Amino acid sequence: MNVSKKSLNNDENVKIFDTTLRDGEQTPGVTITPDQKIQIAIRLDELGVDAIEAGFPIVSHGEMQAIKAIVKQGLKAEIFGLARASQIDIDSAIKCDLKYIHTFIATSDIHMQYKLKMTRQQVSERAINAVEYAKKHGLQVEFSAEDATRSDRQFLLKVFKEVAEAGADRLDIPDTVGYATPQYITDLVKEIKQATRLPISVHCHDDFGFAVANSIAGISAGAACAHVTINGLGERAGNASLEEFVMALQCLYGKKHNIKTELLYETSKFVSNTMGIIVQPNKAIIGENAFGHESGIHTHGIISNPLTYEPISPEIVGRKRWLQAGKHAGAHGIKAMLEEFGIKPTDEQLHIIVEKQKNIADNGKPITTSELLSIAGGVMDNNKFEEKFKLYDFHIVTGMNIIPTAVVRLNANGKDFIASDIGVGPVDAALKAIQKISGEMANVKIREYRLDSITGGSDALAEVTVKVEDKDGNIVSARKAGEDIVVASVQAMMDAINKVLLKKVLYSKS
Ligand code: KIV
Ligand code: ZN
Repeated sequence: MNVSKKSLNNDENVKIFDTTLRDGEQTPGVTITPDQKIQIAIRLDELGVDAIEAGFPIVSHGEMQAIKAIVKQGLKAEIFGLARASQIDIDSAIKCDLKYIHTFIATSDIHMQYKLKMTRQQVSERAINAVEYAKKHGLQVEFSAEDATRSDRQFLLKVFKEVAEAGADRLDIPDTVGYATPQYITDLVKEIKQATRLPISVHCHDDFGFAVANSIAGISAGAACAHVTINGLGERAGNASLEEFVMALQCLYGKKHNIKTELLYETSKFVSNTMGIIVQPNKAIIGENAFGHESGIHTHGIISNPLTYEPISPEIVGRKRWLQAGKHAGAHGIKAMLEEFGIKPTDEQLHIIVEKQKNIADNGKPITTSELLSIAGGVMDNNKFEEKFKLYDFHIVTGMNIIPTAVVRLNANGKDFIASDIGVGPVDAALKAIQKISGEMANVKIREYRLDSITGGSDALAEVTVKVEDKDGNIVSARKAGEDIVVASVQAMMDAINKVLLKKVLYSKS
């Protein structure tokens, strides 16, 4: 990122300051190891972010080690560390070999009175001293006035002007409790930019669901950069989501940036898996349902022209469109799903298949692709589409101080098999036992396993996603929801194997 003190003009790429490893790691319940931090930093760099806030050096020895290691990677992105406006924090940042720091102090009356217990005069002196100290040590400094959007405007402007004179390179406007509206941010950015002539960042939280809209407003008003996080992680309701912000910026506002958008989905998945925070299915851009369609009217439109019901092509963000069988599905959608496997029923057959799968769905049972193919096989009298793997039963022994063990009985291509295996837990044991049997026919490796809780409580409905790859590189994923996570996992695995096998059978020339 160019840190010259001139304000950026409208043609320059909007800068992305990613704070997944700092504000994102402050998501309640999230802690990651230094090694995981490094892995995420590498992914963020590949994604093309301009700056990575690697952490808050003062918080722990492990945090310092992780930040130091990230600095050592020699990434393209600027690596920042957070520091309160105090010498001890700035010294910790220096010990991490950082060249860039993000230093902050609160400027709102409520923070100064109840948290800092400092007067305005003391706060402004602390801010100036911190910036001067950091500059004396050769650091590039971004200064944040915490809770800026609830600060007295005249005092806020005074502090920003003072730190600008003290040598700050950039200024950041945090909407710390997500309290601003787009109009408020617009006015604030214009005023601060005019008063200081420094590049401005905005750091918006999502307490009222405005984080992305506020960040966009900031950029439209002349801010050069937005602080964002992958999957919108962050304190409380989180920060502006990088994926939503970037795509809105590009598609709705025609602004340029340095993000490789085709890596958005896999980066989101990586962060979700590493930090253990699931993405809600209906989240824009990266949620599982963002490019999924079930209703007949929508799938009909999508098949004629995807832009009827999709604002952008899923490939732009590294995704694929998918259609779902179910009670809302119509003939066009089911036909397209079957065509993916080369299956072409007559109109009459298609009508029967649609009705049959609707009857199943009416009983509240979501339909998997291999079940749909099986229905088609029955209707078309073609056992080629039959599920090749049929589960009879399985049982698991698990508990404390015993090795989880699974025994699975199933029919594979007309032959009965029984297999057992052990694992780190009941799911691992069961999936390994299935893989033992499938080895010959499908030889699949699990590429991804995800467990999402759909409802709360110990009787929560969980959704399992299993992605498998066979030795020919065919990748399929299957999802199954249920109250019992082991049963749902086994069913998803069976469905994934059936899908791989069906692909092989239906696409082979013989
Ligand atoms: O939300 C906030 O105010 C912050 C500061 C540290 C900038 O994260
Ligand atoms: Zn924040």
